[in-house]
Amino acid sequence: MKSDNKSSNIKKSEVFVRSTNDSTENEAKYLILESAGYPFNFALLEGPHLEISDKVLFEQYAIEQWNGTLVKTGSYLFDQKIIPDYAFKVLKVFPENSIISENTSIVVADDSKEKRSSIKSKNYDVHFSDIVGQENAKNKSKLIYKYLQNPDLFGSWAPKNVLFYGAPGTGKTMLAKALANELNIRLYLVKSTSLIGEHVGDAASRIHELFDSASKNAPALIFIDEIDAIALHRSFQSLRGDVAEIVNSLLTEMDGISPNDGVVTIAATNNPSSIDFAIRSRFEEEIEFKLPNDDERRKIIELNLNTFPLDYDLDIDKLVKLSKRMSGRDLKEKLLKTALHNAIINDKEIVDMEDINFALNLNKYKQTEVKGMFE
Ligand SMILES: Nc1ncnc2c1ncn2[C@@H]1O[C@H](COP(=O)(O)OP(=O)(O)O)[C@@H](O)[C@H]1O
Ligand SMILES: [Mg+2]
Repeated sequence: MKSDNKSSNIKKSEVFVRSTNDSTENEAKYLILESAGYPFNFALLEGPHLEISDKVLFEQYAIEQWNGTLVKTGSYLFDQKIIPDYAFKVLKVFPENSIISENTSIVVADDSKEKRSSIKSKNYDVHFSDIVGQENAKNKSKLIYKYLQNPDLFGSWAPKNVLFYGAPGTGKTMLAKALANELNIRLYLVKSTSLIGEHVGDAASRIHELFDSASKNAPALIFIDEIDAIALHRSFQSLRGDVAEIVNSLLTEMDGISPNDGVVTIAATNNPSSIDFAIRSRFEEEIEFKLPNDDERRKIIELNLNTFPLDYDLDIDKLVKLSKRMSGRDLKEKLLKTALHNAIINDKEIVDMEDINFALNLNKYKQTEVKGMFE
């Protein structure tokens, strides 16, 4: 931490109310600004376009001139140095009503169209009926479905944040895709680590952009995969310097500005115990995805065989027994696909148990038990 008292020799802008109240004496962790231009237009000036080429340098510059300023969401900060009176609107400050210090992370949201469209959303050809088992998750999805279909019906009682957890390959991503597909709405499918950037503040700004884009395109569904990778439990946060910033911005966005904005966030993890407790408490429900039981494995096997390009002569009862502890993904990718490929390589016209045995031997099946990373 820098500890010189730089703030004392910097001329502070006089337009802001300094903190006089103890309850506001907290330090801003991060701040997201939007370039707002001049408070009035006059003929000589064209609408200015601000481009920040060096984010790190800008942050330093911003902290130097606004150090000690009390900020809240929606207020404006005015530049007094390079472009006097140029305004920045405060899109977000965490915590609310806090004071800019040398430790505040300050970013300006990029509002260019090009940048916005870099957050992609797609549609997928997956249906609820393709998902075997996971009844709890399907029930919750039905509720989310009803909400996103008609947000007004829910008033301030909207579903907001849901956690899917359980063994890999059990249908978490698949269910989110089916939900978005059946509703024909946007799905923001984000791998959590893609939210981390090179510079301090990148993550806060990406997270803000993600939620901002979703609410502009509401109704929409956000699916954050592997949330534990960025929202690590406090006791592990010292391992990674940027975690606090990410956790704080996620918290702000998950709380949302309005209780009913037509956006639902589903986060997924294999290991819920490694998630930061403040984040974990924001989920109104935690839904477990279990490995398929005998009947469910049978159904998954049958569903997949329906799309086999070759004929098959398989003892399904035996397949069900042999595949204990396999996930839906294992059944498809490790068992059936490997067997099919083996038959094709050997110029066979029919997939049989020999190919299944080949697949089982090849994958010397490892147990897919969920083991805590830090347990
Ligand atoms: N419950 C299930 N029913 C049918 N297929 C499943 C199921 N779970 C997994 N699969 C198959 O495994 C693939 C991968 O599942 P996925 O949803 O990505 O798992 P997760 O996100 O839980 O790791 C799916 O595309 C599907 O082919
Ligand atoms: Mg997944």
